[in-house]
Amino acid sequence: MAERITGLKRTHYCGELRTGDIGKEVTVFGWVQRQRDLGQLIFIDLRDRSGIVQLAFDDATDREIFAKAFECRAEFVLAACGKVRERSSKNLEIPTGEIEIEVAELRVLAKAETPPFDIVENSKVKEDLRLKYRYLDLRRPDMQKRIIGRHKIVKAARDYFDENGFLEIETPNLIKSTPEGARDYLVPSRVFAGKFFALPQSPQLYKQLLMLSGFDKYVQVARCFRDEDLRADRQPEFTQIDLEMSFVDADDVMAVGEGMVKRVYKEVLGMDIETPLRRMTWQEAMDRFGSDKPDLRFGMELKDLSGVLSGTEFRVFAQALSEGGSVRGINLKGKADHLPRKEIDKLTEWIKAYGAKGLAWTRLASTGESSSYEKFLSAEEVAAVRSALGAEPGDVLLLVASPKKKVVYDSLGALRCELAARFDLIDRSKPCLLWVTDFPLFEYDEEEGRYVAMHHPFTMPKEEDIDRLESDPGSVRAIAYDMVLNGNELGGGSIRINDPELQERMFQALGFTPEKAQEQFGFLIDAFRFGVPPHGGMAFGLDRLVMLMLDCESIRDVIAFPKVASSAELMSGAPAEVDDKQLTELNICKVQADGE
Ligand code: AMO
Repeated sequence: MAERITGLKRTHYCGELRTGDIGKEVTVFGWVQRQRDLGQLIFIDLRDRSGIVQLAFDDATDREIFAKAFECRAEFVLAACGKVRERSSKNLEIPTGEIEIEVAELRVLAKAETPPFDIVENSKVKEDLRLKYRYLDLRRPDMQKRIIGRHKIVKAARDYFDENGFLEIETPNLIKSTPEGARDYLVPSRVFAGKFFALPQSPQLYKQLLMLSGFDKYVQVARCFRDEDLRADRQPEFTQIDLEMSFVDADDVMAVGEGMVKRVYKEVLGMDIETPLRRMTWQEAMDRFGSDKPDLRFGMELKDLSGVLSGTEFRVFAQALSEGGSVRGINLKGKADHLPRKEIDKLTEWIKAYGAKGLAWTRLASTGESSSYEKFLSAEEVAAVRSALGAEPGDVLLLVASPKKKVVYDSLGALRCELAARFDLIDRSKPCLLWVTDFPLFEYDEEEGRYVAMHHPFTMPKEEDIDRLESDPGSVRAIAYDMVLNGNELGGGSIRINDPELQERMFQALGFTPEKAQEQFGFLIDAFRFGVPPHGGMAFGLDRLVMLMLDCESIRDVIAFPKVASSAELMSGAPAEVDDKQLTELNICKVQADGE
């Protein structure tokens, strides 16, 4: 039977003890990392969230305690009391490696079955198994470090906002579903048959209403829910550090946002981030890097070849240009001998996922030059393309042409990142942060056949573009800004519309009838009649911030209980079936497994 903890109080965490504690009587609690039985001697490594300490049992140990230590297995929960002494054989690899505890009292607080995997750092165990037994996975020191790091990051952020006069205010999690954005998670109402709440994709509308209520500077560590396809940097429920401010312009919000990042880096990692951060317009980011979240830690910039190829007779390029598209290229410098033809063929297939029909290439290899397109160009055009791309012997030139500019940007932007990762071209010595500004207000949704808000429908257009809201919506820029960290979108926000007339024009441009706008956003439209201050804000993806600061590959690594790509939670088995009674109460008919 498990022994009781009664009468024992922890004096130290295991990982804290040092030579300065020699001679002290201590009490520690933790899990058995391993037990080593050397006959006359038994050693137990005891682990808690701070690290490991060695418990020693020898000739001088009470026989009953020695016998108990003999029985201890991995992951048993122990309480140990005793005196700290210097170790005879030291282990300088661990911080407590110069001392051990000469155990005078030992209690087995819980036994444990053999775990399905070893609780060790840098586990090679498959992620699915780790997630099924997440509570054990979380015992591993690297996971503990990440969860503790996450706490420190949130704490530093909260302190920063508090010191800058922000109020943390909670907003509801059961709200009205609004269109635009990702798909909502819906919650059926028991009281109102056939009606649904939605889980918030962000606190956007509520934080704007808080500005109207006069709270002036709001912040919230807010849980958000989006039913969208998952990737390494996306979860269906995730956390934002969400903020909103009144009587401000974009520069004010950006200063607060970068101030937070600077503070968090300094406090948690001891790193200095230079502010103000560099800024780049959306157009420049797309033209030079093919991405609205450009990774500036390496070069390989896109070059627009449309001009030098404007008169070309090569059909693929000519057609793209005549249909309003572009031809752009990148130069993979000095890698021709390391990127053989068959690898280029694989990349040609790979790039199709981004909409490109193909990849045109020139290899200036040491064994000779070859190209998929130069034979179709005039000598002047070949020279002009090479010169525009700064081609030298050893280089690989990679070109994409498409009638759709977006396809050229997306495919070359992705190819640039893929090649940089593959050839290890990324300077990882320090974080690379920047703002991307002046996003388009709208993007054209081919499926819906209309313009949709790129950010959300409450984003303020740039003053000088407002006139074109109806005549040329595609050219209108927003007062919107994203913060980018190492090629990831870390956060984003905008200045909001606080003029009801302009808001109405915005809804119209998005294809809402006044009735539809009233039905969907009536409460906000009504509220804005009662004196709305100029306001703006932004939200950081906390999970992404933690992932990037702690150098993890996936946001799953920094979330205690994450979901997998199918949105399931492997440990609890959610989502799961519910009782018929629960469904009936919610006025929901059970869907038969065969779909009837
Ligand atoms: P946005 O939709 O850009 O803006 O979200 C802000 C930040 O949240 C993070 N993020 C995610 N993180 C993990 N999983 C997801 N599925 C996910 N989706 C977004 C990103 C992103 O930059 N209300 C606005 C902000 C504002 O205008 O104030 C908003 O939600 O890091």
